[in-house]
Amino acid sequence: MTSEEVRKLFLSFFEKKGHTIISSSSLIPTDPSVLLTTAGMQQLKPYFTGDKDPMTNFGSHRITSVQKCFRTTDIDEVGDERHLTFFEMLGNFSFGPVGSDNPKDIGTEGYFKKSSIDFAYELMTKELGLKIDWVSVFQGEKSVPLDTESIALWKEKGFTDKNIQQCDRADNFWGPTGDSGPCGPTTEIYVDGIEVWNIVFNQYFQDEKGNLMPLKLPGVDTGMGFERLMKVIQKTETVFETDLFEPLRSRVLDAAKNIPENHLRIILDHVRGSVCMIADGIYPSNLERGYILRRILRRLSLKLKQNNVQLKYVPDFIGAVSEKFSPHYEQLKNTQRVNQIFFAEVEKFDATLGKGLRQFEKSVSQSDTGEQLGQKLFQLYTTFGLPLEISRDIAQERGMPIDSRAKETFDALFQEHQKISKQPSQKA
Ligand code: GLY
Repeated sequence: MTSEEVRKLFLSFFEKKGHTIISSSSLIPTDPSVLLTTAGMQQLKPYFTGDKDPMTNFGSHRITSVQKCFRTTDIDEVGDERHLTFFEMLGNFSFGPVGSDNPKDIGTEGYFKKSSIDFAYELMTKELGLKIDWVSVFQGEKSVPLDTESIALWKEKGFTDKNIQQCDRADNFWGPTGDSGPCGPTTEIYVDGIEVWNIVFNQYFQDEKGNLMPLKLPGVDTGMGFERLMKVIQKTETVFETDLFEPLRSRVLDAAKNIPENHLRIILDHVRGSVCMIADGIYPSNLERGYILRRILRRLSLKLKQNNVQLKYVPDFIGAVSEKFSPHYEQLKNTQRVNQIFFAEVEKFDATLGKGLRQFEKSVSQSDTGEQLGQKLFQLYTTFGLPLEISRDIAQERGMPIDSRAKETFDALFQEHQKISKQPSQKA
């Protein structure tokens, strides 16, 4: 199955079960406590808390979507086999009041654990023909009990204690996004050893201090990483060989034939992420989400340079993302503005990199560590504009990780520099 077929199948499966299909919201969230949209439920927080009425806005208590997401937690890990910053998330949502919670009663009322698990099982096994290896449930902690209801529901489907794992808060309790909001225990579905679907039972509201209070009406919030799902469906080595990365992958390979696999992955992830961020209205800057965009564009520039990919290919890469996503995301139909912003930033940094990389070769040696290394990296930053994260990337590739003493030295010199120059805080 192609990703386009799966996208359609997912949405129409839930539409047939009474869900209203809604568009992805922007990567710039309405919730000021987060910098970027990290999950499908982000735009739906007020419906879980009862502050907005789903019937008025969607004509149903059931919603489904494919949401553009960006997560920064693993930004430095991109390049390995599985980490992504930008991804799409397939989701189905229910906001109370709960109807009969019988999956056969397909109406516009809300549902809870029974219907969520039934829908997920039917979609995975019957519609997509996948075999679920095992599932996990929340083991219980303090005021939140062991999720015996989910265990019983999975057992009805033939699962046993052997393939129902009980996990702790780190694995099986989700949310809130930002400093407060809906959250709750989860049940998660694993296929081919990969967690593909997270089903959250939003039973609680967590306040800024971390206190849990029961939500007036329970809700369901599910998130299935589209790339991971396509990896198990298309049986590829990693997510990067799925058709979700085409035609971008082929265009990058045309421009850089012998590119190492980790560099290719960084380029694929960062091109998709930065194009979608700019299309949603984010500009590269030294502040907040603008800085996240700048950071990925800089790392992307480094990988292009290290692989002798000329900047003339950049519009082809942007075009490939637009080709793939514009049928689903309006903002990606016209990429003129994206091209301008993207190109200007990459071109500017490319010039910095040229000098910075030469100087790195001259001044940093394999035996440098600690304070001396920190001082050299700081000089590369102040004199040649080479940011620490870029130096770190280059150093790591040469097998010389930046030790904590070097980092502390860099940070101390940076603070001092800030004080002296009396500039507003800028990140290196
Ligand atoms: N909101 C559920 C998830 O992101 O996994």
